Order: sequence, then structure tokens, then C-alpha cells
Amino acid sequence: MTPPLGVGMIGYAFMGAAHSQAWRSAAHVFDLPLAPDMAVLCGRDPAAARAAAARLGWRSVETDWKQLLTRDDVALVDVCTPGDTHAEIAIAALDAGKHVLCEKPLANSVDEARAMVAAAERARARGARSMVGFNYRRVPAIALARRLVEQGRIGPVRHVRAVYLQDWIVDPEFPLVWRLQRDKAGSGALGDIGAHIVDLAQYVVGDRLTGVSALTETFVKERPLATASGGLSGAGGAQRGPVTVDDAALFLGRFAGGAVASFEATRFATGRKNGLRLEVNGGSGSLAFDFEAMNELWFHDGTEAPDTAGFRRIHVTEPTHPYMEAWWPPGHGLGYEHTFVHEMADLVRDLAAGTDPTPSFADGLQVQLVLDAVERSAAGGSCWETIEGDAS
Ligand SMILES: NC(=O)c1ccc[n+]([C@@H]2O[C@H](COP(=O)([O-])OP(=O)(O)OC[C@H]3O[C@@H](n4cnc5c(N)ncnc54)[C@H](O)[C@@H]3O)[C@@H](O)[C@H]2O)c1
Repeated sequence: MTPPLGVGMIGYAFMGAAHSQAWRSAAHVFDLPLAPDMAVLCGRDPAAARAAAARLGWRSVETDWKQLLTRDDVALVDVCTPGDTHAEIAIAALDAGKHVLCEKPLANSVDEARAMVAAAERARARGARSMVGFNYRRVPAIALARRLVEQGRIGPVRHVRAVYLQDWIVDPEFPLVWRLQRDKAGSGALGDIGAHIVDLAQYVVGDRLTGVSALTETFVKERPLATASGGLSGAGGAQRGPVTVDDAALFLGRFAGGAVASFEATRFATGRKNGLRLEVNGGSGSLAFDFEAMNELWFHDGTEAPDTAGFRRIHVTEPTHPYMEAWWPPGHGLGYEHTFVHEMADLVRDLAAGTDPTPSFADGLQVQLVLDAVERSAAGGSCWETIEGDAS
């Protein structure tokens, strides 16, 4: 009989639903050494939390996350709340001896992220592990891109071009939901979606950014106060309040190994819904990925004869591709939700083996240092800001 891994999840909206789906399926798709036990869901409204638990498959409910941390049937705490709560919950959970999976961005500030890394190190010495939820690393095409870069298939990396394009707030009457408030979200498009492409770029290239020059813009400075809101939707009232985060962030960066990079994160790319694109150009080849066609990776092998060389589309559904052996016959693609299934499967295996899951809280801090440098650069007229070397 496979031993259980008791999970307690805090927050049950967008990410709560995605994580629940993954906790429900991970052990049914992958052969895992621990069986996730969806022990408890935590939400502040008792009736709504009970309804969510029933819908999403959790067997009990708590209304105070501190109470969840005292439960013996919870070995891992899954943090699916907005950024202003991550540090407090994750540190308390680690200090209570629980493993922690924390959604991205790791924190709302570098100081919070440092405190979380310190807590993770304390906890690690006692056998509790931690991971930050940069799920796009677990798109098979992205994992394949990383493998090809590692294998030297594109040679030394020269350029990284990353964009993350959304359009859900182009309407100036869209309400002031938590993602548009600095005290809740830390930053705007930068921390929400820019964090993903910073993590992906560093992951695929296997290198870290050492400096940036940035600009940010808030196109709509005031919005209706939210009367009812979810993370990415809501309704507004008659009163208005200030938008305190960026709507768009653009920056140039340098990698330690010499590559140069450009990044663009915006919620004002009208018509673009979840346009996460990454292109990497190396000395002998290139790779290109677009999340809106997430089962595909484009590869140009510059060592081929020029008369037939060109970008070719790899349909990343072969059993030899990352994660795909556990899924469907070749050609039967995956979707967004499967990235979370992979995340949970990898995490469970690491917990059983006593190995460190990735991305670690230190990786999350490294991303936070980049976000912080972007904000300092933008505030300083796009001046060059260096990013310190050792994120731990
Ligand atoms: N990995 C990804 O692709 C991805 C996508 C979306 C969001 N996120 C991240 O996930 C986190 C949550 O975002 P979301 O989109 O799910 O937000 P959301 O607004 O949809 O859900 C937030 C949930 O947290 C709950 N909550 C807030 N404060 C709480 C508290 N003190 N105690 C208990 N519950 C509390 C809310 O009631 C709600 O259930 C954020 O950090 C966000 O950046 C990651």
C-alpha cells in the first residue's frame, strides 16, 4: 500500500482549482511513491469553503490557515493565495515542520523572499522541503527546450526573447481587483506574468540574469473599486481608486554567460490572452515556443545543410519527450492543467526521495531580485541596475 502524503491547500479560486485538479490526478497518471491525500482546504468563508471542498475533492475544511498548520494529517501546505500572504503562511508552515508548495511570485518583496529562503533552509535541516510554483517549467516543450540547450544542440546562447502578453484589463472600467493593488500583489504585469518569463528564461538557458534596464507603464491610473472580484474577473461600483501597479513592464537584460535578453510583460496586448512566447538563439541553432501552441517546439539546427535547414516543428508528444511517457499515444496533446499535474508528480517524488524540489525558494528569490532590479531601473529612468550574484 502506497503511504499517503497529507495535503492542506489554502485558497480555492483559480490556482486552488488548478492545484486540486492536479492533486486529484497526479497519482493516477504517474506511478508515485506517495499517494496525495487531499486532507483539508482552507478558506475564510465557511459555507463557500465547504462548497469548494465538495466541488474540488477535499475531505475537510478549515477557515483559519493557522489551524490547518496544527493538523497531523497535513504533511504539505499548498499556498494558493495572493502574494501578500505568501511569506507569513509559508514561513509559519515550514517552522511547523510542513513541506511547502508556494505559488509564484514567491513573495511581494526581496526582504520577504529572503526570509522565506531562510525558513526553507531551517526547515530543510529538519527534513521539510519547499518549492515555488513556476508551473510553465513543466510544459513538456519547455522541458525539452531546456534539455536541448543542456545538450549543446543550439551552441552557446546569444539571445533570449521572451514576452508574456495578456489583455484582460484593456477596458478602463475593469475593476480594481487585487492584482492591481501593490499591497496585495507586490507589482502588476511584472510580478504576475513577467515573473514567469524571467524564471523560464533562466531555466531554459541554465544561467542567471546579472543586470537589467527597464521601463514600466500604468496606462489606466484609476479604476472602479471592485464590488465582487475573482483574481482575473470582477464587477466594479461607482467609487474609484488608484491603480498602484504597472500595467506593462519591458526590459533588457544580460546573462552571466554573456547572452543578452529582452522581456515584455503586459496586460494591454489587445487580443492576446495568454501569449507566453520564448525564443532562444544560440551559436549553432535556435528554439522557439508559444504557449498558445503548447505542444509544439520549433527547432532550427544550424549545423544542417543550408539548402534544407530551417525551423522545424517538433510535436512534443512522443514517449521520449519529458513527461509524455505517462500520457497518451503520440499526437494526443496536453493542456494548461497538465503542467500542474507534472509539478505535483515531481514534488511528490522529491519528497519521497528526500531530494530538493525545483524551482526552490532560492530560485524564487533570484526571480524576485530581477523584479526588484526592474522596478529600480524603471524608477531611475531606465538606468542599468545590477542583480546580485548569490540568491541564497
Ligand atoms: N502558476 C500560475 O500559472 C499562476 C496563475 C494564476 C495565479 N498564480 C498565483 O497564485 C496565487 C493565487 O492567485 P489566483 O489567481 O488563484 O487568485 P484568486 O483571487 O483566484 O484566488 C485567491 C484565493 O485566496 C483566498 N485568500 C486570500 N487571502 C486569504 C487568506 N488570508 N486566508 C485564506 N484564503 C485567502 C481567496 O479567498 C481565494 O480563494 C497568486 O500568488 C498568483 O500569482 C499562479
